[in-house]
Amino acid sequence: MGSVEGATASPIIEAEKLTKVYRSGRIEVPAVRGVSFTVERGEFVSIVGPSGSGKSTLFYLLGGLTRATSGRVVIDGVDFATLNDAQRTQLRRHRIAFVFQKFNLLPTLTAMGNIEIAYSVSRRKEPLDRAYLDHLSGLLAIKGRLEHLPSELSGGEQQRVAIARALVTRPAILLADEPTGNLDTKNSEVVLEMLMRSNRELGQTVLMITHNPEAAAIAGRILHMRDGQVVSVERGRGASNGNGMRPESGGTTAVGQV
Ligand SMILES: Nc1ncnc2c1ncn2[C@@H]1O[C@H](COP(=O)(O)OP(=O)(O)OP(=O)(O)O)[C@@H](O)[C@H]1O
Ligand SMILES: [Mg+2]
Repeated sequence: MGSVEGATASPIIEAEKLTKVYRSGRIEVPAVRGVSFTVERGEFVSIVGPSGSGKSTLFYLLGGLTRATSGRVVIDGVDFATLNDAQRTQLRRHRIAFVFQKFNLLPTLTAMGNIEIAYSVSRRKEPLDRAYLDHLSGLLAIKGRLEHLPSELSGGEQQRVAIARALVTRPAILLADEPTGNLDTKNSEVVLEMLMRSNRELGQTVLMITHNPEAAAIAGRILHMRDGQVVSVERGRGASNGNGMRPESGGTTAVGQV
């Protein structure tokens, strides 16, 4: 389908005046309230903010997993709103991989089964690159655990399987919601190192939600969310590694200035 190919010069992600209001009965919860920003190809962006500030909702919106109440999400020059369900799914499969806050591994399949089925769902033309999966499994220290069911794995192992599952498709965009949220320091370092390598070595665009300021700092840019809005943008440590950051966008600035 030609329409998912997009234009290479445009930002890979554009969020424009995005809002999301959850409705349950007569109660309305405005979870995202007018968020606009762009992410350039190959950038590593962190999103931080207190619990309930709308981070996961933004993640679902950017990944096309839920529809915006108003505003637009444009991925690779293609506006999600112009696509039907099948096209939206296809755009997602081609471009985006997810690491969810709650892992989302299928409980009846082994770790390897989870990775294989996700690869098959992504409809890549090439067969699963077993050597690459082996390489990822080694880096993520899950090699010996792949024949186990999720219930037989620790939280950290499940998260690392979820990361291998996301990266094995070599997605253009990796969206990760609290990928280190359930991990101890050592496991967090493994995961963050993995995300940095996928960003630097494969040029993948990474958008990572986190509570942890140290984890957030590895990004080129850090967006701070509060009450459903991006309230400030800060430069992260990764900004100087030539990952697409413009030098003039450094420092903490009010969002309107960037
Ligand atoms: N399905 C839903 N129905 C109604 N309200 C929801 C729903 N999902 C989230 N919310 C509400 O929307 C707001 C934002 O939630 P969200 O999950 O995006 O926050 P978050 O920043 O990811 O929080 P956390 O750091 O705890 O994961 C919260 O007030 C939450 O209660
Ligand atoms: Mg969340």
